[in-house]
Amino acid sequence: MMMNRASLVLGTAQLGGNYGIANVALNRSVQQSNELLQYALSSGIGYLDTAPGYGDSESMIGDCLEGAEPRSRPQIVTKLPSVQRLGLHTEEARRRLVTSSVRSSLNRLKCAALDVCLLHDPLDMSYQDGEILRMLQELKQQQLIRRIGVSVYDAEDTQLFLSMEGLDSIQIPLNVWDQRWIANGMLERLARKGTELFVRSVYLQGLLLMAPEQLPAGLKQAEQPLLELISFSKETGIPVKELCFLYVRDLPGVSGIVIGCETVEQVRENLRMMALPPLSRAVRQKLGESFTDIPAEIIDPRRWN
Ligand SMILES: NC(=O)c1ccc[n+]([C@@H]2O[C@H](COP(=O)([O-])OP(=O)(O)OC[C@H]3O[C@@H](n4cnc5c(N)ncnc54)[C@H](OP(=O)(O)O)[C@@H]3O)[C@@H](O)[C@H]2O)c1
Repeated sequence: MMMNRASLVLGTAQLGGNYGIANVALNRSVQQSNELLQYALSSGIGYLDTAPGYGDSESMIGDCLEGAEPRSRPQIVTKLPSVQRLGLHTEEARRRLVTSSVRSSLNRLKCAALDVCLLHDPLDMSYQDGEILRMLQELKQQQLIRRIGVSVYDAEDTQLFLSMEGLDSIQIPLNVWDQRWIANGMLERLARKGTELFVRSVYLQGLLLMAPEQLPAGLKQAEQPLLELISFSKETGIPVKELCFLYVRDLPGVSGIVIGCETVEQVRENLRMMALPPLSRAVRQKLGESFTDIPAEIIDPRRWN
């Protein structure tokens, strides 16, 4: 059986919650998030993916890591919030912001160093002639960060990433409906460059797993491809979830597959799928050929409203 090289990365955007008012639902959700993180740690999840922008997710992770055995500590991927959007006028002000953001993440996560720090805003790659990445390099030299990279949304961002030196990691969206990085050869180029490659949106925020009749009004366009995916699942006897998961897990060059989970059951399910054998060549080929023209309004969640 083929060895899986990709690790499972637990996405934590869903855990941060939008709390601030103390009520029963709030308490339940914090408790559930803690249970989920504890389960992830005890079951040997390799990485957690978080960001200062995901509500309280960094602090929750920090609280859980505090009591964890050093051996069972997962690697932490977090992000630097957009700097260019703030329009700060001096290099000094921008440096203060970058440094304090990284230090605040370290404090919340209760870590001595961030394993991976990604620019959350790909526009920061070229902002002020690459100044923000140079600042992260300095923090890497000070051993506050181990690896540096960017979370991207499209091919142009990736092209720019590929043209730069000194970057270790990238996070891209990719799933059975969104194969732009395969079609344009960039997945292969990233792999050849030896980049640490994280793939998110494997279930497209859960859209790929929805029943067609549950689709929100604004996403009715997704009904046809969803029916096609379900019909292919019936034909092959492989659940949609497994088709989506295994297709990405076994792409060459993928280091980590980021999956957002809201329940312990989902984490367990994704760990189970990590151990499944690969899809057959014929099934992979069919998935690779079937969904080549899904409109951008469906595959880019930023355009969903
Ligand atoms: N795991 C399972 O077995 C399973 C089963 C059934 C359903 N699901 C559902 O599938 C969904 C995860 O799918 P996925 O991993 O493919 O997701 P995804 O498309 O990677 O979406 C997660 C990304 O969306 C962005 N985001 C921003 N705000 C968010 C928020 N408040 N909540 C969630 N995401 C936010 C984040 O990216 P940026 O940082 O770039 O903004 C985050 O990394 C979950 O809702 C889960 O409940 C999972």
